[in-house]
Amino acid sequence: MTDLFSDLKQHTAASHQALESTFPFNTMLKPESFSTQSYTDNLMILASFHQYVAQKMKQNPQTKDLEALLQSCATVEAIVRDLDQLGIPSPAQHFDAGLASDNMADMVAAAYVWMGSSMGAKILHHWLQQNDYDHLPTHYYAHMRTLGRQWRPFMERAQTLAEQHSISQPRCVDSANALFNELIAGAGRCTPHDR
Ligand code: HEM
Repeated sequence: MTDLFSDLKQHTAASHQALESTFPFNTMLKPESFSTQSYTDNLMILASFHQYVAQKMKQNPQTKDLEALLQSCATVEAIVRDLDQLGIPSPAQHFDAGLASDNMADMVAAAYVWMGSSMGAKILHHWLQQNDYDHLPTHYYAHMRTLGRQWRPFMERAQTLAEQHSISQPRCVDSANALFNELIAGAGRCTPHDR
């Protein structure tokens, strides 16, 4: 069996690429198409993802230390705070990737996509600081940037859980892709045309 994280990285690469190419994600790092509206849409979709995963993890006591590594409460708080400042007081977007909270393959997949998003966040936070966007709240990206430092401990913990629960690696990959697909579906619901 191939290494879990190599497998995840390799088999979600196409989904990640598709996500990055979809509005509003495709406006990040692009001053010509980026706007307060696209930034707000981006955070709304991510808020629905984080809220969904945080809720699933809460339902499974065996993911407690994984949840602590993900800093799920602080992450949700940071994104809700940004959205509040952007005029969206209670973000509630539909998100359902069909994950089962009692399935460890699904929980590892969810934690992987969550932690992986901190990789891009480092670049994005830097970009938001470099450019003239100081009118935009960036608690979420600042938080995710620091979360990126937990990548190694996260991999160790997730690997241990994966072994203890003899997870199905193909299911883990499928669930990670299901999360990417639901993020893309959320993006599809806010097209640039209605602006
Ligand atoms: C649109 C903005 C985004 C950009 C520019 C971006 C950029 C990146 C980059 C550069 C990496 C590679 C880091 C490395 O290998 O050192 C990465 C990895 C990753 N990103 Fe993103 N990303 C974005 C959005 C997202 C979102 C929204 C998610 C999920 C919610 C996500 C999930 C992941 C995952 C799971 C990895 C793989 C980590 C690994 O296996 O090494 N990304 N991203």
